[in-house]
Amino acid sequence: MKRDFLTVMDLSSNELNILLKRSIDFKKGIDANKCPLIGKSIGLLFEKASTRTRISFEVGIYQLGAQAIYMNPKEIQIGRGETLHDTAKVMSRYLHGVIIRTFSHKTLEEFARYSSVPVINGLSDKHHPCQALADLMTILEKKGTLEGIKLAFVGDGNNVANSLIEASSIAKIKMKIACPKGYEPAPDVLKRANGYVEVLNDPLKAVENADVVYTDVWVSMGQEKEALMKRKKFKKYQINKKILERAKKDAIVLHCMPAHRGEEITDEVMDGPQSVVFDQAENRLHTQKALLEFLMS
Ligand code: CP
Ligand code: NVA
Repeated sequence: MKRDFLTVMDLSSNELNILLKRSIDFKKGIDANKCPLIGKSIGLLFEKASTRTRISFEVGIYQLGAQAIYMNPKEIQIGRGETLHDTAKVMSRYLHGVIIRTFSHKTLEEFARYSSVPVINGLSDKHHPCQALADLMTILEKKGTLEGIKLAFVGDGNNVANSLIEASSIAKIKMKIACPKGYEPAPDVLKRANGYVEVLNDPLKAVENADVVYTDVWVSMGQEKEALMKRKKFKKYQINKKILERAKKDAIVLHCMPAHRGEEITDEVMDGPQSVVFDQAENRLHTQKALLEFLMS
């Protein structure tokens, strides 16, 4: 039976550990010449812009021996009214998997229902599970462990935060999230977090004694109309030197990127010695190769 990856919860804790181990092997170059997906074709259907997700998937697919086909909905018939069901069924006859970046998470679920090949969430309004895989790998790489790590997320309780909460609860990371009232993570995600996440409003409290400090943009793709209002509401939720001083001395700083420097993070922190954001971006490639191999070989 085909397996999808729409949320982090689609993996068991054992599978997550196997994937992380495999990602580290890929990074070391182990099995670099093996092409487990040789002869396969994998589609990328992206309704939104992307730098990291698109490039890391296209490069990863190539390195695994397969072909990547990038599709903009405006350039295929879905943009002229062909249904999602028909598109999913037709694509399943050509492709061995589809990675989708979309606005509504429901679109993704509906596509997956009609697709007979694995569907991977390349970001929706509610989840960004591929990002969470790279986040865990980066924490493991830098801290040597996941269990018991104290992670502070400061900012919007958005797609990135939701997936990070799910990943943290599986990996037994203790997460504190500080967000303005009304911008908390999804209630169903919080409910499933098994007590591994605490939601606060005060960024200083969230960051206190943290091993990892994480932030994301205040204005996500598709929220441009709310930009002005959100920038006002999130003003005190910026990762700057003063806030970072509250964390452990050896705390690392993560950001899924793209960063809006001067908003959710200062240049000083982003480019500072505690920032590991570029390693984190690189790890998208390694974790996604492990995921593609797991789902599609
Ligand atoms: N972090 C991330 O998904 O980046 P892109 O939007 O550039 O793909
Ligand atoms: N929350 C951001 C993440 C970008 C990778 C967005 O959805 O735009």
